[in-house]
Amino acid sequence: MIFDTHAHYDDEAFDGDRELLLASLPEKGIGRVTEVSSDLASIQKVKDLAERFAHVYAAYGIHPTECAPMNEEHLAKIRELLLTDPKAVAVGEIGLDYYWDEPERELQKHWFREQLLLAQEVDRPVIIHSREAAADTYDIMKEMHAEKTGGVVHCFSYSREMAEAFIRMGFYIGIGGVLTYKNARKLVEVAEAVPMDRIVLETDCPYLSPVPYRGKRNSSLNLPLVVQKLADIRGITADEVIGITEENALRLYRLA
Ligand code: NI
Repeated sequence: MIFDTHAHYDDEAFDGDRELLLASLPEKGIGRVTEVSSDLASIQKVKDLAERFAHVYAAYGIHPTECAPMNEEHLAKIRELLLTDPKAVAVGEIGLDYYWDEPERELQKHWFREQLLLAQEVDRPVIIHSREAAADTYDIMKEMHAEKTGGVVHCFSYSREMAEAFIRMGFYIGIGGVLTYKNARKLVEVAEAVPMDRIVLETDCPYLSPVPYRGKRNSSLNLPLVVQKLADIRGITADEVIGITEENALRLYRLA
């Protein structure tokens, strides 16, 4: 079944139907979901969802755009959850986001390094968010030996060469709705070129709905559209895409 490796069901966009929607996923072909925290407030919500639903796993970490209020106490809280929550499969999402001017880059880099270290300490893979920051992301991952834990570069938006460099570091490439967009030429190239056993599916819901739902609220239920697009690009069947990417996700999150 489909493994959605990156979702934000704690988002208020799901306030009206979160429980029903999550409960319905397995009967609609979505076998597992990793619910990813982004800020301090979301961490408890992520924990609650993973506790309530057997098919939901948790990732704990602070997103680069949310790192301004972060301190040592928060890091300790995340460490404790990673060590005690049996559903905690990864540290994330963490990384660098230069699309926005804030928080300042040095602060983003500081908490990126700290959370990469934390991942090594608790021995969990990392979920990397990297936007318009390819070189710095790669350099810090090299410097911090991110290959020790591995992980996924989620919502991959860089070149084929960068994808191959991250894969050499032991990382997976997260692909979602963007693959179906008209202007996704670069991502299609990546999806064509990288080894099939390095691709995982993701929604990043409620964001990034695939065509023809672009702009509307996304959910894991839209992933078959991404599966079909990837199947067309690779010249294999949708079932093969689902089977291979599910195995990849199970390896990524060490559930296999
Ligand atoms: Ni995300």
